[in-house]
Amino acid sequence: SNSIKLAILGLGTVGTGVINLINDNLDELKRRSGRDIIITEVGTRRQRDDIDSNIMQNSDLMAIAASDNVDIVIEVIGGTTLAKDVIMHAIKNGKHVVTANKALLAEHGNEIFAFAEANNVHVAYEAAVAGGIPIIKVMREALAANKIDWLAGIINGTGNFIMTEMRDKGRPFADVLSEAQELGYAEADPTFDVEGIDAAHKLALLASIAFGIPLQFDKVYCEGITGITLQDVNYAEELGYRIKHLGFAVRRDGQGNADDAGVELRVHPTLIPQDALLANVNGVKNAVLVNSHPLGQTLYCGDGAGAGATASAVMADVMDLVRVLGNTDCDDQGNSNQNNHGHHVPHL
Ligand code: HSE
Repeated sequence: SNSIKLAILGLGTVGTGVINLINDNLDELKRRSGRDIIITEVGTRRQRDDIDSNIMQNSDLMAIAASDNVDIVIEVIGGTTLAKDVIMHAIKNGKHVVTANKALLAEHGNEIFAFAEANNVHVAYEAAVAGGIPIIKVMREALAANKIDWLAGIINGTGNFIMTEMRDKGRPFADVLSEAQELGYAEADPTFDVEGIDAAHKLALLASIAFGIPLQFDKVYCEGITGITLQDVNYAEELGYRIKHLGFAVRRDGQGNADDAGVELRVHPTLIPQDALLANVNGVKNAVLVNSHPLGQTLYCGDGAGAGATASAVMADVMDLVRVLGNTDCDDQGNSNQNNHGHHVPHL
């Protein structure tokens, strides 16, 4: 058939956002990919009555990951245990995987990517870093031929939203964090946002691509924003500065190999001049500033969290995969590859 069959595992903020995006942009997706993009299965603990009756709902995620009715598995359940088992199972069964799970990839990405390569499938994760900003594609594609000297960015939307509201409206930290949770910006465990862990996960992923090194989450110096008071924020303003929580990846010795500790990785609150570009990235917006050779400085900015922004990145990966797959997995081509599990595997 000419259709690409998607499974969405998890119907939280992101999963629901993906369903809404597909509903809203259905014709556009078809026009731009030349294929029908259809959701065949969703993984959800509880049966939902607001889901199209053509879509199979199943609480058995492992079954979905191996289903013959699925080409691409979208993992948006989060966490690092069940999500890992399900992704590994999907890979083993010849499915391509799209995930927004930065914690899982930062901690187990080396293993997961190697397994995907061995099984000739893709694991795409644009949504894992900086929400809707296509920073993974920028690093991997647009800047592919550059030597990256350093990158610095605001890479946690919740944290930037908190810092912005404290500064602009004098609101207390806890109050803004609750709102960020209601708006679907925060992690299931918001400690990850405010302690800098989420930013550290994303920085490890960015650095891995930017410098061509393995993932090294355990090497990231990590400090969050929990120690920052309204007084700190106000003093910074008075002095002509602004406090931003930034992630830095800096080439130190010109090599950047895994073993020589050539890349410095750190996330922490930083005082920056009010007229600096990054000082004026507010609310849930993220921004990544990259200095590379020969291009020079480039800045990427946009919404870093939330249903729409994250769904945009998830579906960008799906569209990317559709392009890569071409028509090689079409039943009507009659010449598709099959792996030893009997599933279709495209030529990559
Ligand atoms: N909790 C994350 C953030 C979601 O606030 O940035 C996007 O990764």
